[in-house]
Amino acid sequence: MSTAVLFDRYGTPDELYATDLPVPSAGPGEVVVRYLAIGVNPIDWKILRGDLRAHLPLDLPGACLGVEAAGVVVEVGAGVRRFRVGDRVVRHGRPGTYRLHEAVPAAQEADELTAWPDRFDAEQAAVLPVAAGTAYSALRQVGLRAGERLLVHGASGGVGLATVQLALLTGAARVVGTGSARHHDLLRRLGAVPVEYGGQEAERLAELGPFDASIDCAGGLGPAGTAVRLVSETARRVTIVADPAVQALGVPYLEHVPLELASTLDLIGHSPFELPIAARLPLSRAAEALALGEKGGLGGKIVLVPPTPGQAAPTPRQDA
Ligand SMILES: NC(=O)c1ccc[n+]([C@@H]2O[C@H](COP(=O)([O-])OP(=O)(O)OC[C@H]3O[C@@H](n4cnc5c(N)ncnc54)[C@H](OP(=O)(O)O)[C@@H]3O)[C@@H](O)[C@H]2O)c1
Repeated sequence: MSTAVLFDRYGTPDELYATDLPVPSAGPGEVVVRYLAIGVNPIDWKILRGDLRAHLPLDLPGACLGVEAAGVVVEVGAGVRRFRVGDRVVRHGRPGTYRLHEAVPAAQEADELTAWPDRFDAEQAAVLPVAAGTAYSALRQVGLRAGERLLVHGASGGVGLATVQLALLTGAARVVGTGSARHHDLLRRLGAVPVEYGGQEAERLAELGPFDASIDCAGGLGPAGTAVRLVSETARRVTIVADPAVQALGVPYLEHVPLELASTLDLIGHSPFELPIAARLPLSRAAEALALGEKGGLGGKIVLVPPTPGQAAPTPRQDA
């Protein structure tokens, strides 16, 4: 048997329950992946709350959260040439990774699976796709070039930390990032100039600016206001948090560019890039992981660790 964490209706993390399911088999053009680690993201609790139901309709009851994970191919279906049993892969895209085994499309044109960089372990690999992929798209949208100065709001979150590092790998001359004071040592270590948000934020950023481009990973009118004041061209500002009021102020929303995840992961794999893991919980405690993430302030990513096959049946959340 296999394990999955599912939900039957929109709501709070209390809706999640762990259950046993048969191990799927690989249909034509599919592989079965056994996950070793699963990334937790804000989109998970937004989907669970029903915030995205108009854009991302789910099959309820029995829907599964999770848009990234790392694991090992355990079965290869007919017609799949790209992967072999034992390959280490990262899965990204549509929701459904809060489980131990998943049958995933793996034909040539499918783009849900990518080999994972050698130097990362499963937990580190599992949290790369959303953070690195979003950072990559945002940097492409603002057209950051070597030698330029970048302002990053929400620099201490998952996407923010990836943005800071990818910007510096791109050759940015200076990256200034907002985050709470407890994450400033981390931001400095990664090469950013940290600024505390709230209070004197606007004055401090004005002293450090102007900037060639800005990427907002926090959302809200405060970051939008400083971006508009300190970056002269609208096209060189972007926010990754959809908000009509922010867009009306002159900060465009992110348009995802086709993700060259393989080449982004290759670049990251050959650099000192890191995404700290701030918390790890067993998959059966996914509800706690979501509550923790929603509370915020972690300074890194949360991972869920599925049971190894043969381990005792999952403990339902309410008994954990
Ligand atoms: N459009 C897309 O494709 C896309 C993709 C990924 C994520 N997102 C969205 O982007 C947001 C960030 O995602 P994430 O994974 O990076 O989340 P996260 O890891 O929870 O990070 C959010 C960060 O925002 C910081 N923050 C909160 N209020 C702030 C403020 N007023 N000024 C500056 N920073 C502030 C927090 O910093 P401290 O911890 O230091 O307080 C926190 O680290 C979420 O809303 C998510 O849904 C969108």
